[in-house]
Amino acid sequence: MIQYEKATGEFKLNGKTAIVTGGAGGIGEATARMYAAKGADLVLVDIKDTVSDVASAIAKEYNTRAIGIRCDLTKEGDIEQVVTKAVDTFGEINILANVAGRVDLDNAEDIDFTLVENQMNVNAFSVFRLTQKVGRVMIQQKKGGKIVCVTSQADFIAIDKHVGYTMSKAALVGMIKVLALEWAEFGINVNGVAPTVVRTYMGDRAWQGKVKDDMIEAIPAHRFAEVDEIAAAILFLSCSESNMITGEDLVVDGGFTIR
Ligand SMILES: NC(=O)c1ccc[n+]([C@@H]2O[C@H](COP(=O)([O-])OP(=O)(O)OC[C@H]3O[C@@H](n4cnc5c(N)ncnc54)[C@H](O)[C@@H]3O)[C@@H](O)[C@H]2O)c1
Repeated sequence: MIQYEKATGEFKLNGKTAIVTGGAGGIGEATARMYAAKGADLVLVDIKDTVSDVASAIAKEYNTRAIGIRCDLTKEGDIEQVVTKAVDTFGEINILANVAGRVDLDNAEDIDFTLVENQMNVNAFSVFRLTQKVGRVMIQQKKGGKIVCVTSQADFIAIDKHVGYTMSKAALVGMIKVLALEWAEFGINVNGVAPTVVRTYMGDRAWQGKVKDDMIEAIPAHRFAEVDEIAAAILFLSCSESNMITGEDLVVDGGFTIR
């Protein structure tokens, strides 16, 4: 059962330990900062060497505890190490934010199969691997938990050249729904946050020139999202204020998918 907790509107995470993948930059780092501001201890995970430096900077800035683990999420051994280190360091895991991801764009008739496979590996299979291991820990702890996956507006609308990316994020939506159904009895919420284009390394790489201008025109808000706007949605789905929401894929898109 997912317990009722009186919602205070404070979105507190004191006493919680959160794993954030993709934590060395973009939406992941913004999420880690927002979690830290709300009192969580952090395990930042990223393939970038800078992940430990980012963790140290956040720990100092927010007066919380944070470690960085360099990890390739497509490698099972690396994932195992993340879960073990998180439990060894902080005693338990209460929140998992699956933020890491990649995008490789091409027309469906031209895209190299390896690129489709790589996106499925990073955006879907590795997310399930980590989530399964963390879920087992949460179930054993008997204290519930929060799992949030960053999906995409591509879950709701077809986007040119996004075939591999959309396949991988659609798989994630399927995973979210089944885990939400199966793990509610353990008090675990599982949700997605589906952004429009966000101004990060990934967003800037994928959207340039005319496609960028056309996209901004097509979004009713007439701009791309900022990382803190996505982190805020992830925070909401990571705290007790959202206990009654599970299996959802929350769109943060300035209205792009209204039509
Ligand atoms: N930026 C956008 O426009 C946008 C839109 C919709 C959804 N998203 C999603 O948001 C999430 C975060 O993306 P972002 O915009 O912050 O991009 P980003 O490129 O800034 O961050 C992605 C992070 O994932 C890490 N990563 C990639 N592969 C990894 C691996 N194998 N192991 C460990 N870490 C790995 C990268 O090192 C990077 O730090 C992704 O899941 C992405 O699909 C982004």
